[in-house]
Amino acid sequence: MAPRPLFPVLSIFIFIFSFLFLPVSYSVPFVVLHGIGDQCSNRGISKFTELLSDWSGSKGYCIEIGGGTWDSWVKPIQEQSEIVCDKVKKIEELSEGYNIVGLSQGNLIGRGVVEFCEGGPPVKNFVSLGGPHAGTASVPLCGTGIFCIIVDQLLKLGIYSDYVQAHLAPSGYLKLPMDVPDYLKGCRFLPKLNNELPDKRNATYKERFSSLQNLVLIMFKNDTVLIPRETSWFGYYPDGDFNAVLSPQETPLYVEDWIGLKTLDDAGKVTFVSVSGNHLEISDSDLKEYVVPYLEEASTKRMAVQLSSFKWPPSIWSFIKLLRNTWDGALHHT
Ligand SMILES: *[C@@H]1O[C@H](CO)[C@@H](O)[C@H](O)[C@H]1NC(C)=O
Ligand SMILES: *[C@@H]1O[C@H](CO)[C@@H](O)[C@H](O)[C@H]1NC(C)=O
Repeated sequence: MAPRPLFPVLSIFIFIFSFLFLPVSYSVPFVVLHGIGDQCSNRGISKFTELLSDWSGSKGYCIEIGGGTWDSWVKPIQEQSEIVCDKVKKIEELSEGYNIVGLSQGNLIGRGVVEFCEGGPPVKNFVSLGGPHAGTASVPLCGTGIFCIIVDQLLKLGIYSDYVQAHLAPSGYLKLPMDVPDYLKGCRFLPKLNNELPDKRNATYKERFSSLQNLVLIMFKNDTVLIPRETSWFGYYPDGDFNAVLSPQETPLYVEDWIGLKTLDDAGKVTFVSVSGNHLEISDSDLKEYVVPYLEEASTKRMAVQLSSFKWPPSIWSFIKLLRNTWDGALHHT
């Protein structure tokens, strides 16, 4: 005589109910991508991440690229964004989506992640502080150390030469208005990121960038590092002209919507902010007003809930009972 198959029935119930997915509210984590010459272990940037985390109540991660300061100068931006792409994929807490806070060069790395990171977790809000989005017409001030002498020597080789492109990060977004043809030909990163090459425009990059929920572009009124400072808003010099600066809406990138900036703006998802201060000199009150609200947003995700850790309402128990009776009935008939 065959024993009653009680065990399989029981295990079916455990299977169903221990993997029930319920919507649970959680705060969206964020990552901070630092600028050139910085590293996550520096007091300034770790404090910055901590403050944003405290004020927003969301978990924040400063993502380091390779060897910190040194690599931020010498690794091509494409490689830096691939490193970040790999890292965000490995952080389990980001898998349902996350926000990016970019500082200066970190913004281009962040946009590289948004546009190029295959299979990466979705980026929701992108808050940009002083990002050279449309390029910059001058290399960030290096200083006088031995390292800066090397940088100067590199620059003398020609900014759009293969060697410099492979060994100096800012060469990936240095756009000399008087030399746009060479820029388009030799610059390896920004023309691709901004879909500037007419025969190489990639609809996937545009689709990914325009899927952001919010894009916040913060410009510093007294920025003397980014030339012109309007690049923080995607404004830039017209080709071949160093005198005028086009507003973001006047640039071909916007008008022809190469990467979806216009799409985002038309949908009311772009906020153009102008704050006082030089490059990255943001006050606590401006941080609280323009950055923190985008990190505070709660979201819901479907989370597996364990039967043992969840109190079922009585109606569920009667439903289970009904199910069980039906099952028992079905078993008796077979
Ligand atoms: C565009 O980019 C995507 C993602 O990187 C890639 O799979 C696709 O082949 C590219 N399309 C073209 C036309 O280059
Ligand atoms: C900032 O810029 C404004 C106008 O561009 C100028 O009047 C002011 O002196 C500058 N402030 C600082 C601290 O440089």
